[in-house]
Amino acid sequence: MKIVMLGAPGAGKGTQASMIAENFGIPHISTGDIFRANIKNGTELGKEAKAYMDKGELVPDELTVRLLLDRVAQDDCKEGYVLDGFPRTIPQAEVLEKELEKTGDKIDKAVNVDVPDENIVRRMSGRRACLKCGATYHIVHIPPKKEGICDVCGSELVLRDDDKEETVKNRLDVYHKQTSPLIDFYSKRNVLETVDGTKDSKEVFEDIKKILK
Ligand code: AP5
Ligand code: MG
Repeated sequence: MKIVMLGAPGAGKGTQASMIAENFGIPHISTGDIFRANIKNGTELGKEAKAYMDKGELVPDELTVRLLLDRVAQDDCKEGYVLDGFPRTIPQAEVLEKELEKTGDKIDKAVNVDVPDENIVRRMSGRRACLKCGATYHIVHIPPKKEGICDVCGSELVLRDDDKEETVKNRLDVYHKQTSPLIDFYSKRNVLETVDGTKDSKEVFEDIKKILK
């Protein structure tokens, strides 16, 4: 099963994608996590991406698409995957569609996690992220078992550089201009499903499971 997660920054794409990945035994592929891992490791790709990410802008399509197509060509993606944060522009979606068409394949479902902008800024300041394994927590809603430490891999949790209020506002702007048109793109292909992302994260996941069954 090939799944795309849609939704504003902070809607809970990453939280839900990791639950989907575990439940369905498919890899969770987050372009944001891949960029952050590269930044942490000081790679050239990381340096290039950081300049855009810190401003809340999108990394150029050319770079992002190359990275993503390399990733989905790996062996563990044969049975499917859940994409989180990709595609983020119409050109990215078109490239992915063309690539899949080469093998008679397509995206099976696009899950839109719907959360109004007002809720987002509040959520982001409480988010804590693990830069090693990509796990995400919230200091109030989804706390780790031990404060400041990742449940999954034991690494230290951090506030992401792009979660400052001003940057979050710009990310929301960028989302509405460049990414939200994808709702229409996948709706036209009859694969769009929207869930209410303001519910508790476990309830959101129950709604998603019903859709994916
Ligand atoms: P990316 O890492 O994808 O960030 P994003 O889209 O802004 O989304 P987030 O990761 O911030 O939010 P999320 O929806 O995953 O929410 P989460 O589950 O963490 O991208 C970062 C940057 O990389 C971009 O700005 C861009 O520069 C670049 N980039 C990445 N991909 C790109 C691409 N394809 N093209 C170009 N550039 C790209 O949840 C948020 C918080 O809420 C957490 O604290 C969580 O614990 C909490 N939470 C989750 N669900 C609930 C719930 N139901 N109730 C209460 N709290 C909840
Ligand atoms: Mg995320």
